[in-house]
Amino acid sequence: MQRRSDCRLPARFAPVNQKRTGSSSNLRQLNNSLTVQPSNVDSHLIQEKRSGIFARLSDVMKQFDAFRLDSSNGCLWRGGEQIDLPPKPFAILNFLVENPGRLITHDELLDKLWPETFVQPQVLRTYVLGLRKILGDEAGNPRFIQTMPKRGYRFVASVTDSEEPLSASTPGATYPSASAAHGGSPGFVNRTQELALLGAEFGRMGQGKQGKRRLVFVTGEAGIGKTALVDHFCRGLPAGTIVARGECVPGVGASEEYYPVNEALGHLCTSAAAEEICGVLSRMAPAWLAHIGRQPQSEQPSATQPHLQARMPGDLCAALEEISRAEPLVLVFEDLHWADAATLNLLAALARRRAPANLLVLATYRPRSIAPGAPLRALKHDLRIRKLCIEAALEPFPKSAVASLIMEELHQPSLPRGLSEFVHRHSEGNPLFAIAIVEHLIAQQILINSGHNGDPQWEIRSPLDTMGSEVPGKLAEMVELEIERLDPDVKELLEAGSLLNIAFPAWAVAAAVGCDAAEVEERCDAMARSLHFVERAGEDELPGGARSAFYVFSHEVYREVLYQRQSAARRAQRHVRIAERLAQLFKGREADVAREMAVHFEAAGELKRAAQALRAAAAHAAERNAQFEAAELNARAAQIEARA
Ligand SMILES: Nc1ncnc2c1ncn2[C@@H]1O[C@H](COP(=O)(O)OP(=O)(O)OP(=O)(O)O)[C@@H](O)[C@H]1O
Ligand SMILES: [Mg+2]
Repeated sequence: MQRRSDCRLPARFAPVNQKRTGSSSNLRQLNNSLTVQPSNVDSHLIQEKRSGIFARLSDVMKQFDAFRLDSSNGCLWRGGEQIDLPPKPFAILNFLVENPGRLITHDELLDKLWPETFVQPQVLRTYVLGLRKILGDEAGNPRFIQTMPKRGYRFVASVTDSEEPLSASTPGATYPSASAAHGGSPGFVNRTQELALLGAEFGRMGQGKQGKRRLVFVTGEAGIGKTALVDHFCRGLPAGTIVARGECVPGVGASEEYYPVNEALGHLCTSAAAEEICGVLSRMAPAWLAHIGRQPQSEQPSATQPHLQARMPGDLCAALEEISRAEPLVLVFEDLHWADAATLNLLAALARRRAPANLLVLATYRPRSIAPGAPLRALKHDLRIRKLCIEAALEPFPKSAVASLIMEELHQPSLPRGLSEFVHRHSEGNPLFAIAIVEHLIAQQILINSGHNGDPQWEIRSPLDTMGSEVPGKLAEMVELEIERLDPDVKELLEAGSLLNIAFPAWAVAAAVGCDAAEVEERCDAMARSLHFVERAGEDELPGGARSAFYVFSHEVYREVLYQRQSAARRAQRHVRIAERLAQLFKGREADVAREMAVHFEAAGELKRAAQALRAAAAHAAERNAQFEAAELNARAAQIEARA
């Protein structure tokens, strides 16, 4: 089995809190690990991207062969075709392209992708395989990515800077959205580039009869700031712009068609231009007006009562186009991952029609909350191919933006030392989580305001790492609610996964819950498709050649809440089963996985068995003349025995 050369932990999948370069942990460390733990998969990379070329809108792209790598949009271009890449494959390709001709070792890549977390190098193989497919590359005769056996990868194509501007290629952004002059909302930080993108789209709409409709999907995980961005943008729009918004609500789509559209129409009918708007709707889309409880101002009563007429999408589109001719119209549809089919069809019609319209549609959704075959996914794909939409994909905040966010929260232009790093690490750059952590620190009186006369002066009273071992209350509650809604068998799998690491293999989950591994893998795949906080990360080869998929939690907080919600007895039982399965799988090679086994036994309170595993590994190391390792293992075993 392939292992990382610098890894003192001979682990396949390190259990909870086993860092890549760390040695085996003890129970205290294990418990400490249950504080929010720095282990994000992508934030580190994203941070780099943002502080580098990613931070400028009109940046050059890296070109190789027929491809251009678009760091701003996190995608790849082949000529005019935009190819979406998931964050990690994108990050790998980006890193390789940024370092052409140089050997990039497995360790270097893993450190970039999973800082401070142990992850098998095999994950890389899976991603590189996928990249090769996309690039049309062959491992045996590489044009782009060359495998350097047992060492890493090298990007072998020549790379140049492409001067071509970003996807939204039409010039003419007249809207000063990203400038300091933007009205926006107080307290809003970061997102300069995304604001500039929205501003550019607003500018591209043109005016009057030349109006060109635009559609932007604003996407990202829960709490990343989609609503905040759109709100901030809308607040800064030029006077006279008509803004209407509608929100999708979970569960409502099934019972009420066009729920967010109705809400947006309600806004239009109470806006400053309500009279004119209602006039247009009465004339062109009376059924729509009637359905939101407004009486169309019809001079000639129609044969059928308007509220009984079917709402035709074409009527509403035409009416909205007409409305937008007087003043620019911005329609915001929020949380489309919960949208009903009728709303999505209307959105498709709005995007595809050709009539002039000064219409900008901003649609937000969480990509991970939509299943692969879901209509929204197909809709976006189709519109994207036709170049009828663009996407502003929001990524986690870099450290500097988290610092700005906290300063805004605390109304203070500077921060106590270490605070922003701590919050950034634990929130993984998610603004919602960052705010929740600051609130938690205040509630715990770790962060205290000792200012006078309304002048804040925040200080850290006790070391941040003494923060309670549980996830901050508010954050945990949010995640807990989300988990509560899941089916019991999905919860069971996730809980079992949380006993391992941010990455967990199906075989270990199967062992923990006492099920067949193939069945568990199928269930985990289904789970990864439907849940936004778990994804499939690749496959690994087990001794004997069997393959087993593994999965990652998108955010450490989920793993932690799932870990905490299990009773101690249940956790112990599952830890023991994982340790025993390790011994079974690695029969004859138990020493290779002894540290892992020990951690699981230790977590289960089975200290004798933990020590035995370590002693066996020590004896094995001594046979190989690895005296230092043997001594270390024996010392560790002795510590555990002392507690037994
Ligand atoms: N750029 C920002 N500046 C200041 N605060 C922000 C920013 N982005 C997000 N926030 C804050 O983070 C929290 C979550 O943001 P928001 O509600 O916009 O997330 P979201 O992506 O819309 O989440 P959901 O998918 O759950 O709707 C809010 O309290 C918001 O004020
Ligand atoms: Mg939102």
